[in-house]
Amino acid sequence: MTRPTAAHPLSRRAFLQAAAIVTGSGLLSLSSCAPALHLRYPENPFTLGIASGDPLADSVVLWTRLSLDPLGPTGAGLPGGPIDVTWEVAHDEAFRQVVQQGRSPATPERGYAVHAEVYGLEPHRVYYYRFHSGNATSPVGRTRTLPRAQDNVQELNLAFVSCSDYQNGYFGAYRALAQDELDLVVHLGDYIYEYGPNPEGVRQHSGPEIVTLEDYRRRYAQYHADPDLQAAHASAPWVVVWDDHEVENNYAAAIMEARASDEAPVSEADFLTRRAAAYQAYYENLPLRRSSLPKGADMGLYRRFSYGQLASFSMLDTRQYRTDQPCGDGFAPACAAVMDPNATLTGPQQERWLLEGLQASQARWNAIGQQVMMARYDWPFGEGVILNMDGWDGYHAARGRLLGFMAQGQVSNPVVLTGDIHSAWVHDLKADFLRPESATVGTELVTTSISADFPAQFVAPTAGGLKDNPHTRYFNGAQRGYARARITPDTWQTDFRVISDVKARDAAVSTDASWVIEHGRAGAQRA
Ligand SMILES: [Fe+2]
Repeated sequence: MTRPTAAHPLSRRAFLQAAAIVTGSGLLSLSSCAPALHLRYPENPFTLGIASGDPLADSVVLWTRLSLDPLGPTGAGLPGGPIDVTWEVAHDEAFRQVVQQGRSPATPERGYAVHAEVYGLEPHRVYYYRFHSGNATSPVGRTRTLPRAQDNVQELNLAFVSCSDYQNGYFGAYRALAQDELDLVVHLGDYIYEYGPNPEGVRQHSGPEIVTLEDYRRRYAQYHADPDLQAAHASAPWVVVWDDHEVENNYAAAIMEARASDEAPVSEADFLTRRAAAYQAYYENLPLRRSSLPKGADMGLYRRFSYGQLASFSMLDTRQYRTDQPCGDGFAPACAAVMDPNATLTGPQQERWLLEGLQASQARWNAIGQQVMMARYDWPFGEGVILNMDGWDGYHAARGRLLGFMAQGQVSNPVVLTGDIHSAWVHDLKADFLRPESATVGTELVTTSISADFPAQFVAPTAGGLKDNPHTRYFNGAQRGYARARITPDTWQTDFRVISDVKARDAAVSTDASWVIEHGRAGAQRA
């Protein structure tokens, strides 16, 4: 955070006192009447960065969040009442050719976040954007609109990422993808972690496990202050979906994770109060459209994007509507409940939406961006069949319906994008995983974590299971990173990018392996 200078002479306390005074005279209600120029900040309030997201062919969401005190009680350190913020969109980074501008207030009700939905943009084009408030100007972000649905597009470059745990290391993978000049970044969840401080971590969360809206806001502020995360947001538009840690580890709809028996029980009503706080903070802190605005403990997040005729992205929410994990959750021997025909990860409505969307799609590549591993994996962690009950392995019938639909051949090149498991994988998605000779109906690409841990002692045992899971083509549990895809009408190439050391601020990045899917042939081949 910058210190006061001659140009910004007020201390924070003096600013708050002065703001309280001008609020009384209405001067801080700048969105309604007074000019923004009257507001003088003691320090730059744009220290949480800027972002863009949910692009369409003519529109994109611009995001920022004002704060003078990211780790303070409210994560804001700003006076009550709306604060005027203006934004500009330009063809060039120097803002000589501004094509649109507007104003959007930052209000305490939304944690001083700004979501500007800009329309009237040209398709498939790079734009630059920035915000102003009073005497302060934000960093500049680069964004892109999507091509129109009917456009014949020859190339798309994107990254897909998940699991950025602040405590387990630095965000070198975010810094690396910011250099890639991508068209899109897809975040598959675990954007924050809810835990209290870990003394063994390379850096610590501020405050205990987060529960209240103020807690979640402060935690997002801590993450947003990270320069590598800021660089990644500033480099390209993001499309985000959550996993569990944006609320609580392995929660299922209104059901909390099973806790140690000596912990005080939490009622479902209290958990839904927590979920409402978590969803509200998620909305506030990511570049989402008004259509995702939460209503109490509910928030509509699953949605679809088309990248011309080249690719369609169905983005799933596998947490809000799922039934509870079977067989006691975790990695456990398979019990009868994994076959429950009523068990669901998506809920029936989202499942119908997914299948109907896949059926109607004219896209060459049909990606499903979601959280937990879809392919079966029999983990060699004990006698008999051991499955990860939090993944699709715990929801056999639901997976069977989706893969059965793919097996009918009506979906052009289905590619499932997955996070959650803190390790990189490539799987053939089989019509029947227990019959290796059965058809491969799709391809699953699992990105490793940006920084969250895959315990080193599990890497070798997990790899030991590859011989019993012949549909699994690649596994790397030892390294953190991201997945980068170059998609053309003929091929989908994925580079599994890895950083040299998650505990080092200046880690180097390289490609561990590249896998290619050819149009019309499910399953990836090593490049
Ligand atoms: Fe995670």
